[in-house]
Amino acid sequence: MAFRWIVNAGLLAIPIGTTIGVLVGIDAQRQASGQQPLFSGGDNGSSTGGNGGLGGGGSTGGDGGNGGGSSDDNGISWIENCNLTYGIEPPTKGQEYILNPNQWGVLDGTSGMCMNVTAFNNGSYATNSTGPEFAVTWSYKPGSSDQPVHAFPNIMIEGDTLPVALSDLKTIHMDVEWTYGLGNDPSATTDDATLKAEDLNANVAIDMFLDSDKTVASNSSQAKYEIMIWFAQYGPSTDPIGYDGTLDDKGIITNRTVNGTLFHLYSGKNGQGQNVLTYITDTTTESFSGNLQELLTLPESGITASNFPADTDYLGHFSFGSEAFYSLKNVTFHVPTFAIDIRT
Ligand SMILES: *[C@@H]1O[C@H](CO)[C@@H](O)[C@H](O)[C@H]1NC(C)=O
Ligand SMILES: *[C@@H]1O[C@H](CO)[C@@H](O)[C@H](O)[C@H]1NC(C)=O
Ligand SMILES: *[C@@H]1O[C@H](CO)[C@@H](O)[C@H](O)[C@H]1NC(C)=O
Ligand SMILES: *[C@@H]1O[C@H](CO)[C@@H](O)[C@H](O)[C@H]1NC(C)=O
Ligand SMILES: *[C@@H]1O[C@H](CO)[C@@H](O)[C@H](O)[C@H]1NC(C)=O
Ligand SMILES: *[C@@H]1O[C@H](CO)[C@@H](O)[C@H](O)[C@H]1NC(C)=O
Ligand SMILES: *[C@@H]1O[C@H](CO)[C@@H](O)[C@H](O)[C@H]1NC(C)=O
Ligand SMILES: *[C@@H]1O[C@H](CO)[C@@H](O)[C@H](O)[C@H]1NC(C)=O
Ligand SMILES: *[C@@H]1O[C@H](CO)[C@@H](O)[C@H](O)[C@H]1NC(C)=O
Repeated sequence: MAFRWIVNAGLLAIPIGTTIGVLVGIDAQRQASGQQPLFSGGDNGSSTGGNGGLGGGGSTGGDGGNGGGSSDDNGISWIENCNLTYGIEPPTKGQEYILNPNQWGVLDGTSGMCMNVTAFNNGSYATNSTGPEFAVTWSYKPGSSDQPVHAFPNIMIEGDTLPVALSDLKTIHMDVEWTYGLGNDPSATTDDATLKAEDLNANVAIDMFLDSDKTVASNSSQAKYEIMIWFAQYGPSTDPIGYDGTLDDKGIITNRTVNGTLFHLYSGKNGQGQNVLTYITDTTTESFSGNLQELLTLPESGITASNFPADTDYLGHFSFGSEAFYSLKNVTFHVPTFAIDIRT
């Protein structure tokens, strides 16, 4: 838990910029892969067994279905994880992922969030880049101005896929579908008006870290660049670094379109001196399919090469989730579809 959001006093006159802290070091997450998940629902799949493949840690909260079967059964494990810092890594035959509630900004030790993961015991998802479906239900009171973010529940790329040099990167194809809604159940659609009326403060975002050093590129507090891609933005707490409401263009430095979706780019430095580039969709985008590598190439205008990752830099971290600032009522963020296919 090394990372702390540091308020940049220079930003106080305008809405405080935000950055995602991925917080839990990669080490902790690796460690976590061997940890026992907190089973709640057990296995209701088509065969016996249940959590055998999930790190083999055995069940603490199982309800009878967890017979410790082999990881080859075709059952489904429903995992509820309310932990502050530890994620789980379900078995997979394709791209490896860690799913983590990542409540790094919860300082009183009381979890305001649970993450449910739907893991296939056989590790065979729809495609070899598909991750498990997940949903988080959360509620936090507003945090202090120097620690406004409570959590970044996310699915993170694990395994050998990263780091990768940008010059070697051909495509990052992402397919995602998500919804946000009030209450404890996944919502079929996202109703922006209701979420705004209830004062939800959160975003839906990809978080990436890049650096010229392969190892440093994976470290969220040391990497030179953080590139975020937001698909939704709720509440006044979530203005990106570089946003300036007093300007006609609000600080947008350029616009880019990927497969029909328009993104506005903001740029600036966070309190740790990292260059933060934030792409935000023009409107709430609940479903996206496209090649994100296009956003990692230097834009034609708006930014100089020295403020943007070079071809020789490495992409070391990639995660997708929701930065949870606050909501007084329970809200549920649901990600039924998520797949990342990185080709070199
Ligand atoms: C698991 O059980 C739940 C609740 O009974 C049901 O809604 C769901 O369809 C089941 N899933 C599978 C894959 O059988
Ligand atoms: C693996 O398990 C899932 C979930 O039950 C099922 O939908 C899928 O068909 C299984 N895949 C294989 C190859 O058996
Ligand atoms: C989180 O999980 C770790 C590892 O299993 C455990 O040591 C810790 O007590 C858990 N913390 C909470 C708040 O559940
Ligand atoms: C998925 O399959 C494609 C095509 O066969 C391959 O290029 C890619 O490396 C595979 N990815 C993983 C994570 O296995
Ligand atoms: C909010 O969700 C938590 C689980 O994340 C649950 O314990 C709590 O009862 C819920 N609150 C309400 C008002 O439903
Ligand atoms: C998460 O799992 C718990 C325990 O099975 C269940 O009560 C809750 O409704 C689930 N929430 C979501 C959003 O799937
Ligand atoms: C990331 O960098 C921080 C600050 O320099 C350091 O404390 C931490 O150990 C590093 N994490 C990893 C996983 O190397
Ligand atoms: C980006 O698009 C917005 C409209 O969505 C427009 O107001 C703005 O001028 C554009 N900025 C640039 C730099 O093209
Ligand atoms: C563009 O989006 C459409 C609709 O979601 C999708 O079917 C198509 O595969 C996407 N194209 C690319 C090149 O990603």
